Amino acid sequence: MDTYYVDGKFVEEDAALISAKDITVLRGFGVFDFLITYNKRPFFIKEHVARLENSARQIGLTLQHSNADICDIVVQTIEKNPHHTESNIRIVYTGGISPDGVTPQGNGILMVMVTPKHELPAWWYTKGVKIITIDIERFIPTSKSTNYLSAVFAQQKAHKTGAVEAIYKDRENRLLEGTTTNIFCFKGNTLITPPDDILPGITRNVVMNLTKDQYTLELRHLAADELNQMDEIFITASNKEIVPVIQVDDLFIGNGKPGDKTRHVMELFKNYTHAYGQGNIA
Ligand SMILES: Cc1ncc(COP(=O)(O)O)c(C=O)c1O
Repeated sequence: MDTYYVDGKFVEEDAALISAKDITVLRGFGVFDFLITYNKRPFFIKEHVARLENSARQIGLTLQHSNADICDIVVQTIEKNPHHTESNIRIVYTGGISPDGVTPQGNGILMVMVTPKHELPAWWYTKGVKIITIDIERFIPTSKSTNYLSAVFAQQKAHKTGAVEAIYKDRENRLLEGTTTNIFCFKGNTLITPPDDILPGITRNVVMNLTKDQYTLELRHLAADELNQMDEIFITASNKEIVPVIQVDDLFIGNGKPGDKTRHVMELFKNYTHAYGQGNIA
């Protein structure tokens, strides 16, 4: 049984309850963030909590905790779960109860849910995956709100076609990001990733920093019809790390296998997270 933090208390996971009147339940108004541990050390916790605060600010949700307090609570919740080798950490800040069911009162609830990290299929990383594109634009894409209707909808479509992720395409035919991932493309030695109108992924940021000396980074939007000019594609996320993409809709990328440059970025990332877990990186 895992231990969660809910509204000031550590409770067993089955006793982690919030009110049915909370406007996160009624309206999908709330924010969350997600991170994992390496060697039990939460990866870029300050950045994840800063993003949570930023997500809240953007939708007009007032948090009653400082970022430092939230970081402390996350660390304490990890310590309450010593049976995990590595953990997935979900931080949720609800909208709270509102008398009219729609106007936030600044009384939201902080929850920290720590579960065992689950491994994704090994073939994703060795063989590469299929993704699809989908015509959806997220509302306030820079905020990780609890309204992930578009993600749940799009992932069902992806899974029906054997794909593991769906990439949002906007009305200008720009490919922005996946339902829970950021997208990168290699064209020659240039690594391209969209600059804005996306969730600023923490993994994306680490990848940009790790590769900046070896590849030319181009922060620009990707047109859906230029994918056939890309040599390699990969997607990034905290829980997935770096996943090579070999097919987008009906288009095969490169030679249909994870490319050398993507495998190089995976290696850089693996070394970096290992060093992070060892405490060799501040
Ligand atoms: C919409 C969206 N884009 C990108 C990401 C990747 O962000 P991160 O690397 O911080 O996990 C996520 C994470 O869940 C997401 O929900």
